[in-house]
Amino acid sequence: MSYNLLKGKRGIIFGALDENSIAWKTAERVFEEGGSFVLTNAPVAMRMGAIKELAAKTNAEIIPADATSLEDLENLVEKSMEILGGKIDFVLHSIGMSVNVRKGRHYTDLNYDWSQKGWDVSALSFHKVMQTLYKKDAMSEWGSIVALSYMAAQRVFPDYNDMADNKAYLESIARSFGYFFGRDKKVRVNTISQSPTPTTAGKGVKGFDGFIAYADKMSPLGNASAQDCADYTITLFSDLTRKVTLQNLYHDGGFSNVGVSDLVMEKFEEE
Ligand SMILES: NC(=O)c1ccc[n+]([C@@H]2O[C@H](COP(=O)([O-])OP(=O)(O)OC[C@H]3O[C@@H](n4cnc5c(N)ncnc54)[C@H](O)[C@@H]3O)[C@@H](O)[C@H]2O)c1
Repeated sequence: MSYNLLKGKRGIIFGALDENSIAWKTAERVFEEGGSFVLTNAPVAMRMGAIKELAAKTNAEIIPADATSLEDLENLVEKSMEILGGKIDFVLHSIGMSVNVRKGRHYTDLNYDWSQKGWDVSALSFHKVMQTLYKKDAMSEWGSIVALSYMAAQRVFPDYNDMADNKAYLESIARSFGYFFGRDKKVRVNTISQSPTPTTAGKGVKGFDGFIAYADKMSPLGNASAQDCADYTITLFSDLTRKVTLQNLYHDGGFSNVGVSDLVMEKFEEE
């Protein structure tokens, strides 16, 4: 269903890798709601080619950018304004990667060069994106910036590894930069703390099948899917949420406020 919520709005969407990506689903929903945007991803991710399919069906142009490179980000922001014909109304940061997770290094045995790389990609890149937009005065008044987070920023999920620390840092950047973006440019900045979701990044976490099933049984509404996340994100890009800022917004079917559920207790009561 379409409500024309984003008619005339222009944006930049980071992180659509394949059709399972949260950013992919969000791009499709933004398009349905009448928004126009530039798609971007790391140059290495482009080589896989799937993003071209998404660009074709959403009338979007693709500009490659490594989100850790200020030069790439400056080029991205300038070109996006040219292509879209004005300042940017919405930005989705849907980027995450831990080298330690990828290579199976345990949290008690981190390779710190890999930690720094993962932190740069997953957390500091959010600051770099916002600083570039801010310095270029590229955001429209009442624009909206959203990044994706996970509850391991607040609570222990042992196999989430150094991504837990990266998410805590990401959420802090949203508040700290969001203050200045709000005060100076009337732009809002929030993170969405999403349920475990079967995407390339999600499935890379050890024990993913166990914790997605556990989260589903703990949540009164069940896990939120990537499609549900796309629906939520478009509300945050719309004019209906103008005074929501500096928040970490749980989008998890209620998981974050449940101590234990009947379904989980039943598992422990089994003989
Ligand atoms: N899948 C989950 O369970 C889950 C849960 C909560 C939050 N998240 C977050 O959602 C976001 C999107 O992940 P997803 O689950 O859709 O997985 P995904 O693997 O589809 O997306 C991750 C994206 O990050 C991009 N990326 C990696 N390095 C980059 C770089 N240097 N520059 C630019 N882009 C780069 C990848 O190319 C990819 O498109 C991430 O922040 C992730 O941590 C995911």
